[in-house]
This record gives sequence, structure tokens and C-alpha cells, in this order.
Amino acid sequence: MDDVQHVKEYFDCRAEQWDQICHHDPAKLEALATLADIQPDQNILDIACGTGAMFDVLLRRKPHRLVGVDLSDRMISVARQKYPLPNVELFAQDILEFSQTGFDTAFIYSAYPHFSNKIALCKKVWECLKTGGRFLVAHSEGRKTIDARHQSPQVQRVSTHLGTAEQEARIWKEQFDVDILIDTPFLYVISGVKTTGL
Ligand SMILES: C[S@@+](CC[C@H](N)C(=O)[O-])C[C@H]1O[C@@H](n2cnc3c(N)ncnc32)[C@H](O)[C@@H]1O
Repeated sequence: MDDVQHVKEYFDCRAEQWDQICHHDPAKLEALATLADIQPDQNILDIACGTGAMFDVLLRRKPHRLVGVDLSDRMISVARQKYPLPNVELFAQDILEFSQTGFDTAFIYSAYPHFSNKIALCKKVWECLKTGGRFLVAHSEGRKTIDARHQSPQVQRVSTHLGTAEQEARIWKEQFDVDILIDTPFLYVISGVKTTGL
């Protein structure tokens, strides 16, 4: 996998067409929000939010703040046009350089294979969450489908192999109480709670 600048350029080039290229089953997105147990007035962080695939579902849960962060400023620009709302805040930056904390929930939806340094990502998610906060690494497809889509040399340059939920969860178990693992042909979730403070 190439460096973060190449990942940014790859997604920048696709931002305008992204919503036409990708389909997300709304029922599965609802299921992910239910698994996250999102309650009204919470602060939600959507890491690698892209154009906001999760936003409709998350906004229906009435968050206090929905904060989206994405490396690609063109993805963020599309998301900004779609969601000009006072409780939606968008940042075009590498999540590893994001410094806000105190979130109740952090989603990494349909983006995990695009992070080369999973240990640094896990540590950053831990910093962003409050004690008791929950993270979800989630896909509304199975890992074999995702891996197959990432096979072309061009996509291999911006993605990593997605292991079983059990394998990938090892890193997260170092920092979190991981209590949800789903690894079916139709859904993939690693989720857990931050139980320790600073
Ligand atoms: C496959 S897209 C998914 C976008 C969105 N979650 C969706 O489901 O449509 C992966 C996204 O991850 C973002 N990304 C990759 N590395 C990132 C990083 N280090 N920090 C923030 N965003 C990142 C890319 O810019 C891209 O928009």
C-alpha cells in the first residue's frame, strides 16, 4: 500500500462520482447504528466519512454533534454540500492528525482497509473517545467481497487485505473491551468499548 498522499489523491479523483459508484443497503446501516446503541444528544465521530454514507442514519438518531473526518478534501466538499446542518461538522484531514476528544461513538465505516497503520488508528480512536465510548469498524458486506474488489493493482496501492474479524480484533483488544465480532458474507463488524481513562 502507498503513502497517505496517494490514498488522498485516489479518493479525491473519485469524490464527484462516489455516490453513484457505491451502494449501501439502508437496512444494514440502520443495523450498524443499532449495534452502536446511539442515543440522542451524543457526539458521534465518523472517521473516513467520505461523502457521508452513514450520515442519514446517524442524523436520525438526533446527535448533539456529528463530526466527519476524511483525508480527501473533495469527499468532504461533497459531504458539505449534502449536509449544510449546524450539528454536522466536517474536517478534511488525516484522522491521525485530528485532535478533538470526548466522543461517545466512533465509526470507521467501509474504510478500514485503506489505513496502513492500524495500530496508530486504534490509538487515535481511543484518544478520541470518552471513557465508556464505543468504536465500530464496520462493512455492510463480507470481507471476501471487499478483498475481491481490492484485487486490481490500482486499488491494491490504496488498500490492505482485510483479515477475519477475530484476526483484526487483536489490535483493538489491546486498548478496548471488544464485545462484538461479526464476520459473515453480508456484514463485518469489530466493536468495543473504552473502559479505561487516561
Ligand atoms: C472507501 S472510502 C469510504 C468512504 C465512506 N465511509 C463511505 O462508506 O462511502 C474510504 C475513505 O477513507 C478515507 N481515508 C483513508 N485514509 C484516511 C485517513 N488516514 N484519515 C481520514 N480519512 C481517510 C479516504 O479519503 C476515503 O474517503
